[in-house]
Amino acid sequence: MKPQGFPKKVRLKDGSIVTLRLQEGNDAGALLAFYRSLPEEDRIFLDDDCTARTWADRFIQRSDFDRIIPIVAGEGEEVFGHAWLIRDHYGWMAHVGELRMAIARAHQRQGLGSAMIRELLRIATDLGLEKMTVRMMDNQYGAIRAFEKIGFRKEAIFHGLVKDVLGRHRNLVIMADDISQIWGQMENLVADTPPREEFGG
Ligand SMILES: CC(C)(COP(=O)(O)OP(=O)(O)OC[C@H]1O[C@@H](n2cnc3c(N)ncnc32)[C@H](O)[C@@H]1OP(=O)(O)O)[C@@H](O)C(=O)NCCC(=O)NCCS
Repeated sequence: MKPQGFPKKVRLKDGSIVTLRLQEGNDAGALLAFYRSLPEEDRIFLDDDCTARTWADRFIQRSDFDRIIPIVAGEGEEVFGHAWLIRDHYGWMAHVGELRMAIARAHQRQGLGSAMIRELLRIATDLGLEKMTVRMMDNQYGAIRAFEKIGFRKEAIFHGLVKDVLGRHRNLVIMADDISQIWGQMENLVADTPPREEFGG
């Protein structure tokens, strides 16, 4: 079943208003343009070549809002943020969701990444998930900080497991947090940050 509450408008730090919506079946072209515009290091977390048309078509096909739940930030046909939640339905990880996301460089540091994380956490709690994880390289300091601010903590480091765009071995960091703790921490965070108006869809 598709998550409720979309589309939704959020106001960013620079005052601009951005629409968050569920990914749609005809988004392949916009997603392709988005990922092709990103520097390679910002899309290295993907396990496929997201600059290839075949990737976009396959991703859209896999995004059935059952195991993969993707949302996009954009206006008109332009996408400048893409994030998704992955979950298993069976087995020992069925209570755990994983997040992946990227924001266009021109729109970073405006609170958009945090807004998209919050939306996916809301969906995750609605689905009854208990724990969320995200993985990145240890030198992705901005990404690590963004997730720490929401309440995630580093829980595992795999030394030299992954390679960066130059082929150098790097440590893989897995961050995780309990969703109920995340909500508590986000309430505190809201009290500490400037107001950001949100509008219903
Ligand atoms: C991680 C990412 C999604 C954050 O998106 P964003 O829209 O810039 O995030 P926000 O504006 O909500 O930032 C929240 C906080 O994170 C921290 N942060 C984000 N980017 C940062 C950077 N480049 N350097 C230092 N701190 C950073 C800051 O503390 C920021 O708050 P502040 O701007 O008030 O200081 C974005 O940097 C990105 O797309 N990175 C490449 C892909 C990636 O690493 N994805 C995560 C793994 S799946």
